[in-house]
Amino acid sequence: MQDSPKYAVGIDVGTTTVRCVVGHLDATTGTPTIVGVGEVSNTGMRKGTIVNLNGPAQAIDDALGEAERMSGYQVDAATVSINGAHILSTTTDGMIAVGAVDHQVGEDDVARLTEVATVGKVPANREILDVVPHSYRLDGQDNIKDPVGMTGTRLEINANVISALAPNVTALQSALELAKVTPNTITPSVVAAARAVLNEQQLENGVAVIDLGGTTTSVAIFEEGDLQYAGVIPIGSNNITNDLAIGLKTDPEIAELVKLTHGSATSQTGSETVSVKHDKETLEFSRSEVDEIIEARLEELFELVTKELKKAGRHAKLPSGVVLTGGGAKLKNIADYTKESLGLAVRIGAAKGYGGVAEHLDEPQFATAAGLMLIDAESGHGRGVHQNGGRAKAAADQAGGLLKKLFGRLKA
Ligand SMILES: Nc1ncnc2c1ncn2[C@@H]1O[C@H](COP(=O)(O)OP(=O)(O)OP(=O)(O)O)[C@@H](O)[C@H]1O
Ligand SMILES: [Mg+2]
Repeated sequence: MQDSPKYAVGIDVGTTTVRCVVGHLDATTGTPTIVGVGEVSNTGMRKGTIVNLNGPAQAIDDALGEAERMSGYQVDAATVSINGAHILSTTTDGMIAVGAVDHQVGEDDVARLTEVATVGKVPANREILDVVPHSYRLDGQDNIKDPVGMTGTRLEINANVISALAPNVTALQSALELAKVTPNTITPSVVAAARAVLNEQQLENGVAVIDLGGTTTSVAIFEEGDLQYAGVIPIGSNNITNDLAIGLKTDPEIAELVKLTHGSATSQTGSETVSVKHDKETLEFSRSEVDEIIEARLEELFELVTKELKKAGRHAKLPSGVVLTGGGAKLKNIADYTKESLGLAVRIGAAKGYGGVAEHLDEPQFATAAGLMLIDAESGHGRGVHQNGGRAKAAADQAGGLLKKLFGRLKA
């Protein structure tokens, strides 16, 4: 019997926007081609975490609906992002006696060691998202990357544990449940973004990904191929918009327009005023005032980014520099600003080379969703396809979305 085609799905539950990417996996190589993309404004989240289930549930449902209609695939599970300043990166260690009579290290020893290194070491209100082994030590021999098959009696581990506050994980799971999608894996959004934009050389040399989101700025640091540190700062590009609204004494929508059309991370030369059209009205603002407001916020933000790099012990120690992702990375001259501020090489990250319907996929705001899809594909979650099924929901979508569906179900 011929295998049915396989696909993988990533859903980035961002505070401002939910993005969904569906990839079709080549039957022999497993290489993904993008076949569906969804992008929908989100509500009900604050600084990366869910504060009201209905907003994100509806946005997830709508974004998946878009991607489903585009791809003709029915999605019922995905790899999903989590974000927020509650995400913590801590180091841990542990030791076991190798179990086998011949003292050969087996997979079960490694699993037992990981358990010893994590159980009881993370507070009860936290959920472990990932354990990244940095190195093993076997009978005193250091820096072993994979001890399986080696012989010894005392096996030690040094690892990085990424955890999140349990109530925030539960809220995300509940929103997904309302949207009828099962999370295969939950991954910090910046770690997923890194998967889409970094190459092996950068991962090996030492590199930081800085995800400039709407309400958060997340930092992930990689070295020797492994995630060394992840941290989230509760400030994002929306703070620039709010500062502009206050500083220029104007509406947030107009401030956003000013940021998108005239905002720059470094001072600009040119006319003294900038103008935007809103509701047939033309509004003028002082260019230097706009520049100053943006610069003040970026200064504060990058001081906090520097703190994160220092916390990770990597300040000015990243040979492959910094890769910027997220919608905030579209701000004019942000790469130049970051280079100046952190004293590191900087480029804007993008998921490239996945073909298919990936129109905006190579833009930095899609890095997380693309990375989640890749993680979904790699973690063996490629699923058989139900073509044109649309989660048996396309019709329900047309009838008015998730809330109506829920209401209908309650009444039924
Ligand atoms: N061209 C642009 N210039 C400047 N800023 C932009 C541009 N396009 C989008 N942005 C900003 O990017 C931000 C949204 O980024 P993104 O979609 O990555 O956030 P998010 O994932 O929803 O939020 P978070 O990651 O904080 O939960 C908004 O503040 C928006 O104003
Ligand atoms: Mg984001």
